[in-house]
Amino acid sequence: MSHEFPTGIFKCDPSFPIVIERGFKAEVWSSDGRRFLDFSGAATSLGQTHPKVVSSIKEGVEKLTGFSGLLAPNEPFIKLGEELSKLVPVEGASIAYATTGSEASDFAIQLAKYSTKRSVILSFYGAYHGLTGYSLMSSPTEGMRRVPPRISETVFSPYPNCFKCPFPASDCEDCSQ
Ligand SMILES: Cc1ncc(COP(=O)(O)O)c(C=O)c1O
Repeated sequence: MSHEFPTGIFKCDPSFPIVIERGFKAEVWSSDGRRFLDFSGAATSLGQTHPKVVSSIKEGVEKLTGFSGLLAPNEPFIKLGEELSKLVPVEGASIAYATTGSEASDFAIQLAKYSTKRSVILSFYGAYHGLTGYSLMSSPTEGMRRVPPRISETVFSPYPNCFKCPFPASDCEDCSQ
């Protein structure tokens, strides 16, 4: 397999030219058959393809592939919340679900900004927090990003929807909104 990676915001380290094919517990194998100890662990601390994890994922997606927990919770969603509450027994604590480390970092930064009412984030050289909004902004590793590191202010606007116009008093023919 080619080691030419597509260019996106993520730049793969050229000094590490392997393609990972499969993994089991603490080991991974490259497409050319070499075996490596997986120290990349990072967000996936459960190891690779553990049978219990795999069967649990299979069982879950066979029942329900995806439904927003914001609309209605599902059983595993509730059970996970209960288990997490036991681990962090803080009175009145809320739980935020995230699917990636980047998402968790984003949320943690938003929460920190909200609770401290401060806007500046201090991050450390060599740190890596992810590839989404705030998490990317607080990851100083130049090689990791090709997009500007700062999030600019957001301006909110209604959708330009003439069928459900947010400006009912306006005339569509001469709409200046
Ligand atoms: C400390 C830390 N934060 C955030 C991330 C980003 O996680 P993800 O790749 O799941 O978005 C990682 C991933 O390696 C990480 O190690």
